[in-house]
Amino acid sequence: MATIKVKKLKNIPAEITVPGDKSISHRAAMFAGMADGRTVIEGFLPSEDCLCTVKAMQTLGAEVEPLEEQEGVGLVKLAITGKGRKLQPAVGPIDCGNSGTTMRLLSGILAGQSFPTTLIGDESLSRRPMKRIADPLCEMGAKVEGQGDKICAPLTVTGGDLHAIDYALPMASAQVKSAVLLAGMFAPGKTTVVEPVATRNHTERIMSHFGVKWLRDGDRISVYGGQTPRAKDIVVPGDISSAAFWMVAAAATPGAQITINNVGLNETRTGVITVLLRMGAHITNCETTRDGEPRGNIVVHGGELNATVIGGTEIPNVIDELPILAVAGALARGSTLIRDARELRVKETDRIAAVAENLRRMGVTVTEFEDGMEIEGGAALQGANITTYGDHRIAMAFAIAGLYAEGTTVIEGAECIGTSYPGFEHDLGLFLQAEAGVRPIHVVSRAPNPKG
Ligand code: S3P
Repeated sequence: MATIKVKKLKNIPAEITVPGDKSISHRAAMFAGMADGRTVIEGFLPSEDCLCTVKAMQTLGAEVEPLEEQEGVGLVKLAITGKGRKLQPAVGPIDCGNSGTTMRLLSGILAGQSFPTTLIGDESLSRRPMKRIADPLCEMGAKVEGQGDKICAPLTVTGGDLHAIDYALPMASAQVKSAVLLAGMFAPGKTTVVEPVATRNHTERIMSHFGVKWLRDGDRISVYGGQTPRAKDIVVPGDISSAAFWMVAAAATPGAQITINNVGLNETRTGVITVLLRMGAHITNCETTRDGEPRGNIVVHGGELNATVIGGTEIPNVIDELPILAVAGALARGSTLIRDARELRVKETDRIAAVAENLRRMGVTVTEFEDGMEIEGGAALQGANITTYGDHRIAMAFAIAGLYAEGTTVIEGAECIGTSYPGFEHDLGLFLQAEAGVRPIHVVSRAPNPKG
């Protein structure tokens, strides 16, 4: 089992570049795999999760050509020649690893195929609820069979003659929205999803990029059946969810300045910037749009952070950043409250329980609620043994907490980081070594917190 040992922060590097966006990389591989020609994907995230999606599309008949490897990260450029709308049956089950996005979105595509496919995953993925996609896909005419009441993996999706539906999402989930829209591409007529709260819209944007017609009317998103994606090269921006770790590290360090290059700035994902600004961080960014997704450099100036309240319609926009924002709360003055985040209970692990448990190990007082937590900021953090529960975002959030703790923080089970951020340990090293930065390094120390 991989272990990362973290000591106190020594530097904030002047700049850092994070790997490609996970949500966009998954979708790029899926749409390219269903397209009518060859798509070159640049800036691809070669994490275990996204590689599961590429392998799945390859198993289903797409052709994959590796084009460029980045040292310490992996395959960042590849070409996929799509199989078109009619994929080829897989021989044996498709392994989705740890990736909920692979299993849920792929189920939408498989609902439109005339053969059965079995999807399997690791222990964590096999515990996650697939009923949320099984319900609408069955309503459309597919057969989705899984284990128990939650319809967990192994999951067998048998596609059928689908019909369009009008579906009100019972929870704010981009994965469920996307599964229904993907299935809608195979159902004659207009399939509509109604969102209770806006969620990330990468599927909609990538449909436009690949020439698939859809429309939005308020909270109703519709797609027309019978469309084949048109192959078109795409450049994936850096992942703001990965950038968030370094944003918090810099934001909580008075005197620090960091530029994070070429980060995706889709408005359904930038909630982490809004929350950190509210906590008193100084953040600026520039923005351009390419291949349908806004992107740009983010500059963070560090200072003292103040507590905040995170909840309501903001939650889907920060859902993956809540573990690191909880760490920011621990570093801030006052009590930070996170509510309406029940979805955290069904992520790669129960992230409310995992964050509360590990923060307590570091000396922080945390009150846990069914849908969130209250974190008393300002205590001096103590190095501790962190249990990741196999969850990449728990591992990385507590590596950042370790930068602010007395003594050594030991992240056990750190191999899970590979599911979303290959190269994280290298990048963390830039914060731990005096001579790591590529430009003049700002040697900073954290000003004492009044409560600390
Ligand atoms: C994702 C959507 C979110 C997010 C996950 C990726 C996506 O999940 O937590 O990491 O790519 O659509 P939900 O839609 O289930 O909330």
